Amino acid sequence: MPADNNKVAIGADHAGLEFKALIRDQLIRLGFQYVDAGAPEGTERVDYPIVAADVAKLIQNGECVYGVLTCGTGLGMSMAANRFRSIRAANCSNEAMARLARAHNDANVLTLGQRLLGPDLALSILEVFLTTPFEGGRHQGRLSLFN
Ligand code: RB5
Repeated sequence: MPADNNKVAIGADHAGLEFKALIRDQLIRLGFQYVDAGAPEGTERVDYPIVAADVAKLIQNGECVYGVLTCGTGLGMSMAANRFRSIRAANCSNEAMARLARAHNDANVLTLGQRLLGPDLALSILEVFLTTPFEGGRHQGRLSLFN
């Protein structure tokens, strides 16, 4: 992560709001700044592609270096975020996926499924994602093929 920007964009649909609040608190504990792209707490229904687009744009315009998106499964958010150029969103359900998503794929968006993961696991996945550097080398060459 660049030293001059440690901002993480966070976003959730209605099925990921509890995780978003936990993630926000964990980011503060870990010393990251955050931008909350919604949905606001208490929102009864919001369509995940709208939130994913807002988080993707915060990364594309350089305001944030990473994004974390939560919904029921994490799947819709990852599909929606990956439609945006230079976004590499990874839906992770364990720490090994988070580590490899960063080390090999240079993922810049983590998606998490609130209906599938416990909160402790989700926060552990988050911490691994945020603290694992990209390995570069042969992996950079592969990324160049699709970005
Ligand atoms: C909302 O009910 C649910 O479909 C959404 O949060 C997400 O899981 C979609 O991938």
